[in-house]
Amino acid sequence: MKTPKICKTRQELKAAIAEANPRSLGFVPTMGALHQGHGSLFRIAREENELVVISIFVNELQFNDAGDYARYPRQLQADVQLAAEAGVDIIFAPEAQEIYHAGLPLIKLASGRMGELYEGASRPGHFDGMLAVVSKLLHLADPRQGAYRAYFGQKDAQQVVLIRRMVADLDYPVELRSVPIVRSEKGLALSSRNALLSEAEKEAAMVLHRSIQLIADRAANHEPLNIEDAIGLFQMEPLVQLDYFTVVDPNTLEELAFNCQDTPFTGEGLILVAATVGKVRLIDNQPISA
Ligand code: PAF
Repeated sequence: MKTPKICKTRQELKAAIAEANPRSLGFVPTMGALHQGHGSLFRIAREENELVVISIFVNELQFNDAGDYARYPRQLQADVQLAAEAGVDIIFAPEAQEIYHAGLPLIKLASGRMGELYEGASRPGHFDGMLAVVSKLLHLADPRQGAYRAYFGQKDAQQVVLIRRMVADLDYPVELRSVPIVRSEKGLALSSRNALLSEAEKEAAMVLHRSIQLIADRAANHEPLNIEDAIGLFQMEPLVQLDYFTVVDPNTLEELAFNCQDTPFTGEGLILVAATVGKVRLIDNQPISA
């Protein structure tokens, strides 16, 4: 097992990529606290590219709660180990001043209505802050020649839709890949935030997956979705506070009329759910088609 090269500055990163001179580069931006969900992104990037670069950077701009930013787990040593096991070549792990060297951005990317829905509604500014850093990181890891691919977890479905839109709208020379959710044996979507849950909260959090499964099964069986039944499951979990449960258009994120109709589901949809378990906000999703 090879230890990945750690780059702290943009110059070190640029030099390491130039030295490798790859025919293809797979880039996976992360905020660290890596788990097997990230591991699956790294492995797919490893299979598809000559050089695999990841970034580990907790981006203050996408947190609208200072406490949440402070509590976000930071564990570089363990992250390096997981990245090494997945065959990562280069880790870009900059300090904040290396990324925001010119101060916080004056010129901003606006995620518009799609960034105000769902996660954006409870975390104002989150998606603008996320796009700000993803845009910078995509530039910094750009090999300038050869194939360039960037990998994102489908778990953050709204994030993937927005990054796709940014890359299309601004003509970024990168191919985006979204990688399916990795789940625990019991079905909980893997997330760095799961480490903050007690055992009882982890058990209660399983309602996210149960509720999704209920609606996904109905879609697969061409039945009416009746999502109020899924919402009802949350009322039986005192440790869980539901924020939203909905089925949306996977490209526009607008709610589908099927949510409130008695007609069977047809077409393409995306189930989105968010809930707070104890103090921890969790999200999950699943594409459906019928
Ligand atoms: O999904 C994440 O971990 C972050 O939003 C990302 C894409 C690394 C940007 O900070």
